[in-house]
Amino acid sequence: MIIRKLYVDEKPPEKLLLLADPSQRLVDEYLKRGECFVAEEEEQIIGVYVFLPTRPETVELINIAVMENQQGKGIGKQLVNHALHIAKKKGFKTIEIGTGNSSITQLALYQKCGFRITGVDIDYFVRHYSEKIFENNIQCRDMIRLSQDLKVEKVNIIKR
Ligand code: COA
Repeated sequence: MIIRKLYVDEKPPEKLLLLADPSQRLVDEYLKRGECFVAEEEEQIIGVYVFLPTRPETVELINIAVMENQQGKGIGKQLVNHALHIAKKKGFKTIEIGTGNSSITQLALYQKCGFRITGVDIDYFVRHYSEKIFENNIQCRDMIRLSQDLKVEKVNIIKR
Protein backbone atom coordinates (compact mmCIF):
# COMPACT_ATOMS: atom_id res chain seq x y z
CA MET A 1 0.00 0.00 0.00
CA ILE A 2 1.16 3.52 -0.77
CA ILE A 3 -0.11 6.83 0.61
CA ARG A 4 0.11 9.69 -1.87
CA LYS A 5 -1.36 13.09 -2.66
CA LEU A 6 -4.33 13.09 -5.02
CA TYR A 7 -3.15 14.02 -8.53
CA VAL A 8 -4.19 17.48 -9.76
CA ASP A 9 -6.61 16.14 -12.39
CA GLU A 10 -7.81 13.13 -10.34
CA LYS A 11 -11.39 12.88 -9.01
CA PRO A 12 -11.52 12.78 -5.17
CA PRO A 13 -12.93 9.51 -3.74
CA GLU A 14 -16.35 10.99 -2.89
CA LYS A 15 -17.92 7.80 -1.53
CA LEU A 16 -15.07 7.31 0.93
CA LEU A 17 -15.07 10.97 1.96
CA LEU A 18 -18.81 10.76 2.68
CA LEU A 19 -18.18 7.83 5.03
CA ALA A 20 -16.42 10.25 7.36
CA ASP A 21 -18.79 13.16 6.86
CA PRO A 22 -22.33 12.72 5.50
CA SER A 23 -22.52 16.33 4.33
CA GLN A 24 -21.59 16.68 0.64
CA ARG A 25 -21.52 20.46 1.09
CA LEU A 26 -18.94 20.31 3.90
CA VAL A 27 -16.82 17.69 2.07
CA ASP A 28 -16.71 19.91 -1.06
CA GLU A 29 -15.77 22.89 1.10
CA TYR A 30 -12.88 21.02 2.79
CA LEU A 31 -11.61 19.75 -0.57
CA LYS A 32 -11.41 23.32 -1.91
CA ARG A 33 -9.35 24.47 1.07
CA GLY A 34 -7.26 21.39 1.90
CA GLU A 35 -4.95 18.80 0.36
CA CYS A 36 -6.35 15.32 -0.23
CA PHE A 37 -4.17 12.24 0.42
CA VAL A 38 -5.17 8.71 -0.56
CA ALA A 39 -4.08 5.19 0.38
CA GLU A 40 -3.82 3.02 -2.72
CA GLU A 41 -3.40 -0.70 -3.16
CA GLU A 42 -3.34 -2.49 -6.52
CA GLU A 43 -4.51 0.73 -8.18
CA GLN A 44 -7.57 0.92 -5.93
CA ILE A 45 -8.12 3.77 -3.48
CA ILE A 46 -8.88 2.24 -0.09
CA GLY A 47 -8.35 5.16 2.26
CA VAL A 48 -8.37 8.94 2.36
CA TYR A 49 -7.74 11.99 4.52
CA VAL A 50 -7.77 15.74 4.01
CA PHE A 51 -5.00 17.95 5.36
CA LEU A 52 -6.40 21.40 6.15
CA PRO A 53 -4.28 24.30 7.48
CA THR A 54 -6.58 26.27 9.79
CA ARG A 55 -4.48 28.85 11.68
CA PRO A 56 -0.81 29.85 11.54
CA GLU A 57 1.23 26.74 12.42
CA THR A 58 -1.92 24.65 12.99
CA VAL A 59 -3.36 22.02 10.70
CA GLU A 60 -6.46 19.87 11.00
CA LEU A 61 -6.79 16.27 9.89
CA ILE A 62 -10.26 15.96 8.35
CA ASN A 63 -12.37 13.29 6.69
CA ILE A 64 -10.18 10.29 7.41
CA ALA A 65 -11.85 7.15 6.07
CA VAL A 66 -11.00 3.58 5.12
CA MET A 67 -13.14 1.44 2.81
CA GLU A 68 -15.54 -0.63 4.92
CA ASN A 69 -14.15 -4.03 3.87
CA GLN A 70 -10.59 -2.86 4.63
CA GLN A 71 -11.22 -1.48 8.12
CA GLY A 72 -9.55 -2.96 11.21
CA LYS A 73 -6.30 -3.80 9.39
CA GLY A 74 -4.23 -0.85 10.58
CA ILE A 75 -4.79 1.37 7.51
CA GLY A 76 -6.46 4.14 9.54
CA LYS A 77 -3.47 4.21 11.89
CA GLN A 78 -1.08 4.44 8.92
CA LEU A 79 -3.10 7.36 7.51
CA VAL A 80 -2.99 9.23 10.86
CA ASN A 81 0.75 8.61 11.18
CA HIS A 82 1.26 9.78 7.60
CA ALA A 83 -0.58 13.04 8.38
CA LEU A 84 1.59 13.51 11.49
CA HIS A 85 4.73 13.03 9.38
CA ILE A 86 3.55 15.47 6.66
CA ALA A 87 2.56 18.07 9.29
CA LYS A 88 6.02 17.88 10.91
CA LYS A 89 7.75 18.02 7.54
CA LYS A 90 5.78 21.14 6.61
CA GLY A 91 6.72 22.80 9.92
CA PHE A 92 3.30 22.85 11.62
CA LYS A 93 3.44 23.05 15.44
CA THR A 94 0.00 21.66 16.23
CA ILE A 95 -2.28 19.13 14.60
CA GLU A 96 -5.95 18.94 15.51
CA ILE A 97 -8.78 16.56 14.85
CA GLY A 98 -12.46 16.50 15.73
CA THR A 99 -14.82 13.57 16.07
CA GLY A 100 -18.27 12.74 17.37
CA ASN A 101 -19.06 11.75 20.95
CA SER A 102 -20.40 8.46 19.49
CA SER A 103 -17.25 7.66 17.47
CA ILE A 104 -15.71 5.09 19.81
CA THR A 105 -13.27 3.56 17.27
CA GLN A 106 -12.08 6.97 16.15
CA LEU A 107 -11.53 8.19 19.73
CA ALA A 108 -9.47 5.04 20.43
CA LEU A 109 -7.44 5.43 17.23
CA TYR A 110 -6.62 9.11 17.71
CA GLN A 111 -5.56 8.66 21.34
CA LYS A 112 -3.40 5.66 20.38
CA CYS A 113 -1.71 7.97 17.86
CA GLY A 114 -0.86 10.54 20.55
CA PHE A 115 -3.80 12.98 20.43
CA ARG A 116 -5.20 14.38 23.69
CA ILE A 117 -8.74 15.63 24.23
CA THR A 118 -8.74 19.43 24.49
CA GLY A 119 -12.41 20.30 24.46
CA VAL A 120 -15.99 19.57 23.53
CA ASP A 121 -18.03 21.58 21.03
CA ILE A 122 -21.44 20.96 22.56
CA ASP A 123 -24.25 20.21 20.07
CA TYR A 124 -21.97 20.81 17.06
CA PHE A 125 -23.62 18.01 15.04
CA VAL A 126 -27.12 19.14 16.03
CA ARG A 127 -26.37 22.66 14.79
CA HIS A 128 -24.61 21.72 11.54
CA TYR A 129 -26.50 18.65 10.25
CA SER A 130 -30.19 18.53 9.35
CA GLU A 131 -30.55 14.77 10.03
CA LYS A 132 -29.89 13.08 13.35
CA ILE A 133 -26.73 10.89 13.27
CA PHE A 134 -26.47 7.65 15.26
CA GLU A 135 -23.37 5.51 15.77
CA ASN A 136 -22.94 2.60 18.17
CA ASN A 137 -26.55 3.28 19.21
CA ILE A 138 -25.48 6.66 20.57
CA GLN A 139 -26.72 9.96 19.13
CA CYS A 140 -23.83 11.96 17.74
CA ARG A 141 -24.39 15.44 19.16
CA ASP A 142 -21.09 16.87 20.40
CA MET A 143 -17.74 17.23 18.69
CA ILE A 144 -14.80 16.01 20.76
CA ARG A 145 -11.77 18.14 19.91
CA LEU A 146 -8.32 16.52 20.08
CA SER A 147 -4.89 17.98 19.52
CA GLN A 148 -1.22 17.07 19.48
CA ASP A 149 1.90 19.25 19.73
CA LEU A 150 4.36 18.40 17.01
CA LYS A 151 7.89 18.42 18.24
CA VAL A 152 10.70 18.62 15.75
CA GLU A 153 12.63 15.41 16.19
CA LYS A 154 15.98 16.17 17.81
CA VAL A 155 19.07 14.60 16.33
CA ASN A 156 21.95 13.98 18.69
CA ILE A 157 25.19 15.05 17.08
CA ILE A 158 28.19 13.53 18.79
CA LYS A 159 31.44 15.33 18.03
CA ARG A 160 34.53 13.24 18.25
N1 COA B 1 -11.36 0.15 21.73
C1 COA B 1 -10.03 0.25 21.68
N2 COA B 1 -9.32 0.32 20.52
C2 COA B 1 -10.05 0.27 19.38
C3 COA B 1 -11.44 0.17 19.36
C4 COA B 1 -12.11 0.11 20.61
N3 COA B 1 -13.44 0.00 20.68
N4 COA B 1 -11.85 0.18 18.07
C5 COA B 1 -10.74 0.26 17.31
N5 COA B 1 -9.66 0.34 18.10
C6 COA B 1 -8.28 0.48 17.72
C7 COA B 1 -7.74 -0.67 16.94
O1 COA B 1 -7.46 -1.75 17.77
C8 COA B 1 -6.48 -0.04 16.35
O2 COA B 1 -5.43 0.08 17.31
P1 COA B 1 -4.20 -0.97 17.39
O3 COA B 1 -3.51 -0.86 16.07
O4 COA B 1 -3.39 -0.45 18.52
O5 COA B 1 -4.84 -2.28 17.62
C9 COA B 1 -6.93 1.38 16.08
O6 COA B 1 -8.11 1.58 16.87
C10 COA B 1 -7.25 1.72 14.65
O7 COA B 1 -7.40 0.62 13.84
P2 COA B 1 -7.16 0.70 12.27
O8 COA B 1 -7.33 -0.69 11.73
O9 COA B 1 -5.90 1.41 11.94
O10 COA B 1 -8.37 1.61 11.78
P3 COA B 1 -9.18 1.50 10.41
O11 COA B 1 -8.28 1.18 9.27
O12 COA B 1 -10.37 0.67 10.59
O13 COA B 1 -9.64 3.04 10.21
C11 COA B 1 -11.35 4.67 10.59
C12 COA B 1 -10.29 3.76 11.23
C13 COA B 1 -12.00 5.53 11.67
C14 COA B 1 -10.68 5.60 9.58
C15 COA B 1 -12.42 3.75 9.90
O14 COA B 1 -13.08 3.00 10.88
C16 COA B 1 -13.44 4.51 9.06
O15 COA B 1 -13.22 4.78 7.88
N6 COA B 1 -14.60 4.84 9.67
C17 COA B 1 -15.66 5.53 8.94
C18 COA B 1 -15.30 6.97 8.63
C19 COA B 1 -15.07 7.79 9.90
O16 COA B 1 -15.84 7.71 10.84
N7 COA B 1 -14.00 8.62 9.87
C20 COA B 1 -13.62 9.45 10.99
C21 COA B 1 -14.30 10.74 11.02
S1 COA B 1 -13.86 11.65 12.49
